[in-house]
Amino acid sequence: MRLIRANDYRDMSKKAANLIFSQVTLHPKSVLGLATGSTPVGLYELLGRWCREKNLDFSHATTINLDEYQGLGPTDETSYRYFMDTHLFHSINIRENRTFLPDGMSENEEEACREYERIIRSCGGIDLQLLGLGHNGHIGFNEPSGCFPAHTHAVALSENTRLSNARFFKSPEDVPYKAYTMGIGSIMKAKKIVLVVNGEEKAPAVRDMIRGPITPRMPASVLQLHPDVTVIADEAALSLL
Ligand code: GLP
Repeated sequence: MRLIRANDYRDMSKKAANLIFSQVTLHPKSVLGLATGSTPVGLYELLGRWCREKNLDFSHATTINLDEYQGLGPTDETSYRYFMDTHLFHSINIRENRTFLPDGMSENEEEACREYERIIRSCGGIDLQLLGLGHNGHIGFNEPSGCFPAHTHAVALSENTRLSNARFFKSPEDVPYKAYTMGIGSIMKAKKIVLVVNGEEKAPAVRDMIRGPITPRMPASVLQLHPDVTVIADEAALSLL
């Protein structure tokens, strides 16, 4: 794992946005795996700005997001599709039909997962996967469990994760109980992985991800096995290392 130290959130966002800038400039047809949550918001803002001011060009790129809540459609302000539209897709020149998220409104779980796997395969795999880090070490919505799931699957969100994400909803009861997430296997197949993390409250997860045993109880620890991972973290997130 390569570790890039950032002074603060702004610096972390800029460093990560630079990596994506290089990826898309060198390989315009890149397939980018993208993440939601508060952490990538700053870097998405920069990518939007650089598209307007620095000719950053996403017109040949494809994006595949990690996850989506079950039961939330694209116009629901708390869905991840809505999040991606507002924080990134509407600010860059990507073609809408080249942006993919699992279908949260699908009534058939198996079908929704199969379809997302088909999409990932048809894009030829992921060139650069951006990840955030959950407080409990989850990546995407791969929660701590007894195994590393390989493929897209439906997941029951832990109480810890529902509470952490409650800030995006009107009330904690509104947080869905289930979601679809890309599997650990698909994340690990990405050619490059860039994980962004900031803040003291994530420091225990960062320590366990980098120094702890590789275990599905700490899903992000599996990244120790990937040949090309860059962790961009601010000083607070690194405070326990
Ligand atoms: C959610 C997302 C993850 C994200 C995590 C951390 O649960 N499914 O992909 O990494 O939250 O979010 P935040 O950046 O808001 O701390």
